[in-house]
Parts: sequence; C-alpha cells; structure tokens
Amino acid sequence: MHSHPPVLQVQDLRVAVAGRTVLQSVSLQVNAGAVVVLMGANGSGKSTLGLALAGHPRYEVTRGQASLGDEDLLAMSVEARARAGLFLSFQAPPDIPGVKNNLFVRTAVNAVRQARGEAPLDAFDFLGEARAAARRLGLPEAMLNRPVNEGFSGGERKRNELLQLAMLRPRIAILDEIDSGMDVDGVRATVELVAALRAQGTGFLVVSHYQQLIESLAPDAVLRLDAGRIAQSGGLELVQDIARTGYAPARQALEA
Ligand SMILES: Nc1ncnc2c1ncn2[C@@H]1O[C@H](COP(=O)(O)OP(=O)(O)OP(=O)(O)O)[C@@H](O)[C@H]1O
Ligand SMILES: [Mg+2]
Repeated sequence: MHSHPPVLQVQDLRVAVAGRTVLQSVSLQVNAGAVVVLMGANGSGKSTLGLALAGHPRYEVTRGQASLGDEDLLAMSVEARARAGLFLSFQAPPDIPGVKNNLFVRTAVNAVRQARGEAPLDAFDFLGEARAAARRLGLPEAMLNRPVNEGFSGGERKRNELLQLAMLRPRIAILDEIDSGMDVDGVRATVELVAALRAQGTGFLVVSHYQQLIESLAPDAVLRLDAGRIAQSGGLELVQDIARTGYAPARQALEA
C-alpha cells in the first residue's frame, strides 16, 4: 500500500480582489492521487481560490499559507509554481493570438520536464504525443497548428485545457468548471483523463456545479465554499443535498 502524501495544503488563506476580501479563511488539503471537489454558489470565490494559488497578480493573498509538496507556494513566482507542478485550467480559457498551440504546449511541457530533471521532447516526439492525446480527447489534430484558442468553440477550448493537462502531468491540477460547455463525450474524456492521471499520483481540486460529473469522478471529499470559508465538507451526500435544496437553505441552516 502506498502512502499518499499531501500535494496541496492551504491554511487560513485570505484573498482580496480589487480591494475587497473575497476569501476570509480557506483551509484544505489535497493528497497525491486524490480528487477533492469544490462547490459553492456563483460568486462565492472558487475561481478566486484557483487564481490566487496559481499566482495571478490581481488576487492578493493577505493572510495564510499554501504549500505544494514541501515547498512554500506563495513564495514562488507564477512560472515557478507551474514548473513545480501546479496546473490551473481556466473557467474561460483566453486566446493567445499569434502563438501556435503546439509551440505553446511544447514550451510549457519542456519547462516542466526540465524542472523534473527529464530530457526535453523534440518537435517530433512532442507531436507524436500531442496527436495521440488530442485523439483521445476528441480534439481535431488541426487545432494543434492554430493559435492558442483563437476561434475555438467553447467546448474546444475546454478540450484544449485537457490537452495541456494530459501533456503536463502536473502534481496538482485545479480544474475550474472544466465541464461547462463540454458535450457528453468531452465529459467522458475528462473523467477518463482524471482517472489516468490520478493513478499516476496527480492530486485534483475540481470546481464543478454538476452532480453527474462529480459522481463520475468518485471524489475523496466534497467541500462547500460559503462566506469566504469552507462551510461544509463531506462526500457525495453533500452534492445530493445541494442538488436537492440549492445553496440558500444550507446557508440559512448554518446561520441559524
Ligand atoms: N478581477 C476581479 N475584479 C473584481 N472582482 C472580482 C474579480 N475576480 C473576482 N471578483 C469578485 O469576487 C467574487 C468571487 O468571484 P469568483 O469568480 O471567484 O466566483 P466563483 O465562485 O468562481 O463563481 P462562479 O461559480 O460564477 O464561477 C465575485 O463577487 C466576483 O465579482
Ligand atoms: Mg468561477
């Protein structure tokens, strides 16, 4: 039996955005190979948490700690966080005009490989792997040759995030509503990719509003973010409660 050390630890994290405190005090842990689901009403701060952990400059950490393995995440630059194995898929993946998708992904993959002490992939090997991953994810191969996300449909953008995830094999992956806008085949491909990476030790923090995806992922824990903190944690019964009653009654119950 393997032990499953924590890959992401967040302790008492407070985050301000545009001068307003959005996260008051968030604490959570994701172990290697684990899937932790983060739920919460629109505007509760789920994306804020992911962006703050990734080091987005507009999301200011004003208190608390976060570590990736035994490294101090908050002391690292954005690039260093990515090299150390943190991956964030965006809720709304941006275009990068003028930058070809395959060059973008290969550059990122080789930066991460270098940090892991692995040899870089040359263009030929990279293309072989990227084509195979694109095929598994149902992403047309031609998209590797286009500028990143430019003219991509909503679902294609999400699949392109999955391509990066598959190629980067991060230590911790934060997936922010990866399922929104994806068709059933895309959701199935997501579940399969998460299962495959998890077996290799990647820990996942998955933000989602959808019971079907969450149940398919067989998460180790489900957390509910409210009023800037983790208000509840549990298993799939928590997802079912939220689906049945919505966020408002749970909130009233906690305030009562
Ligand atoms: N760059 C920003 N500038 C100003 N306010 C922001 C910014 N980013 C987030 N906020 C505010 O912070 C709060 C939390 O937003 P966030 O996007 O983290 O919510 P969320 O839980 O991801 O919601 P959703 O389920 O709709 O994706 C919201 O009130 C939002 O308006
Ligand atoms: Mg969000």
